[in-house]
Amino acid sequence: MTTRITIRKPDDWHLHVRDGEMLKAVLPYTAKNFGRAILMPNLIPPVTTTRDGIAYRERATAALPKSSTFKPLITCYLTDDTDPNDVERGFKEGVFTGVKLYPANATTNSAAGVTDYRKIMRVLERMEKIDMPFLMHGEDVDPAIDVFDREAMFIERYLSKWTRQFPGLRMILEHLSSKDGVDFVKSTAPQVGGTITPYHMILTRTDWFGWGLKPYMYVMPVIKTEKDRIALRKAATSGEACYFLGTDSAPHPVAKKLALNGIPGIFNAPVAIETYARVFEEEGALDRLEAFAALNGPRHYKLPPNEERITLEKSPWTAPEEVKVAGPDERALVYRGGETIEWRVVEG
Ligand code: NCD
Ligand code: ZN
Repeated sequence: MTTRITIRKPDDWHLHVRDGEMLKAVLPYTAKNFGRAILMPNLIPPVTTTRDGIAYRERATAALPKSSTFKPLITCYLTDDTDPNDVERGFKEGVFTGVKLYPANATTNSAAGVTDYRKIMRVLERMEKIDMPFLMHGEDVDPAIDVFDREAMFIERYLSKWTRQFPGLRMILEHLSSKDGVDFVKSTAPQVGGTITPYHMILTRTDWFGWGLKPYMYVMPVIKTEKDRIALRKAATSGEACYFLGTDSAPHPVAKKLALNGIPGIFNAPVAIETYARVFEEEGALDRLEAFAALNGPRHYKLPPNEERITLEKSPWTAPEEVKVAGPDERALVYRGGETIEWRVVEG
């Protein structure tokens, strides 16, 4: 039985660390084990211009522990009015790693997202020309569509057309949540890559509300069925280059999670690489963890893999239930908080 594994330092290709006191409280959990992370731009207000991107990168860098070598990668929040020239400038100056699509009102802080896809065609054309990655929250939020079918319908109605319309545009379908999503990415690789969260590989909707409602499991895209969970696990552990790590760790103040109108997002950074290791072990694929966590993502983003290494050991510990945030009574609930976590990072 393998009890220790050393891999290249992983990267997180989809991460929310927010701003202000929350940023200071949560970023160290990712910086400890990961070399880089794509920081999502859905702040209030969102990161929509190169100027915003520079300022957010500075705030994130200032929130890092001293002597950390972690590198924040910044993305531009796409709106109906995004200026292709500013996007190009941000990419060429190394401020933006990519542009992120939130369909308006699809998820947390997406009200400023895109309301009409005709309005973003000029930006996509420019991105294709300069080979800039396009990151997508791939859900169709047409009210006529069932929430469990949003990912599949986004692919059918929009994404499948865009891959043909912009054959040179590198895309990432983020936080894959369904067998349809997994299959689509594979069929369009290497143009489209997909990130997979730890929790979409562990939970089903039966866990979420089959025995009492667990508000902290509420996330967008919603947790789906056992069939989807199995497809996601097979994809992540397959070794296929089109699938890579993106935690979608998304902390919220506890009062916003436990409200009558609860907010989507699962804060998993404190247990992220450890939980991926558990899934890969369960699937008999620990030898493929490095590809998923540290090689496939950089290849898709055309960045070099990290040179540093981390070592994980099978040695149980208990996850903290919450992380305290400075300010008026704020704290964020941790995914798997209070549970026994099988793997531990011993050198990193
Ligand atoms: C994310 C958040 O809280 O910002 N929430 C979520 O449910 N995943 C946004 C997102 O990635 O959809
Ligand atoms: Zn997210």
